[in-house]
Amino acid sequence: MTEAGTGQGGEDFRRFMLEHRFGMDEIVTKLNILRDEFAHLHDYNPIESVISRLKSPESLVEKLQRKGLAVDRQPTFDEIRAAITDIAGVRVVCSFVSDVYRVFDMLVDQGDVSTVEVRDYIAHPKPNGYRSLHALVQVPVFLSEGPVPVLVEAQFRTVAMDFWASLEHKIYYKYRREVPAELLERLHEAAETAYALDTTMERLHEEVRGLDPLPDDVVGQLRDGGERPDAALLDALRRLGAAPDQRQH
Ligand code: GTP
Ligand code: MG
Repeated sequence: MTEAGTGQGGEDFRRFMLEHRFGMDEIVTKLNILRDEFAHLHDYNPIESVISRLKSPESLVEKLQRKGLAVDRQPTFDEIRAAITDIAGVRVVCSFVSDVYRVFDMLVDQGDVSTVEVRDYIAHPKPNGYRSLHALVQVPVFLSEGPVPVLVEAQFRTVAMDFWASLEHKIYYKYRREVPAELLERLHEAAETAYALDTTMERLHEEVRGLDPLPDDVVGQLRDGGERPDAALLDALRRLGAAPDQRQH
């Protein structure tokens, strides 16, 4: 077995990190394809953003130490792979909770993606209020010597969950991990408020989608602009309940 950090001047380590970057790029590409397909072929896009990050060697060493894998004992790459599963990380931000699950399904249902573990912190939030859907997925990377399976940690969350998580992260580091109890309490409340907003937005979104589409002639007139909406257009909008009915006054 190969030991990490040894070998030809760290070449094995570079290869190890590169494999993770390729795996990460594979997942990002899959998500970007889904996003572009939605943007071009559907009237609505469930993916707000996709970001990725590769763990830095410093943070990898720090986590290995934290997990008790003394670096001076030179853990093997297999040991590192087993202990640190978030070397490659991808985060997908969606508008609505239903989209989070939908995009997750669309990714893990792909033939070359296998799901190793799922942690649903939306259905089961962490005690601090943290919500997101976490999935550990494996994807093959095709190198010159053949395919290599790579683990990628994917996090799926809504805009509101992402907003909360980034603030919580900042506070956590600002207080050097010792956040005052009162602040923790308020953060927890904010997480619940964010989730209530998610629920309301989802409901509104469903209702708007359930509305009848505007008739073609009205869409045409709206698109053509014009200084003054004509009587027929106003009438059509009124019928749809989209404009105040002047007749009531
Ligand atoms: P790690 O040692 O951080 O990998 O924890 P873990 O192996 O128990 O995994 P977990 O699924 O709990 O979390 C992995 C990642 O999710 C973290 O690195 C963060 O990006 C994110 N995360 C998890 N919990 C929290 C949280 O309470 N707040 C914030 N802001 N992010 C979190
Ligand atoms: Mg982890």
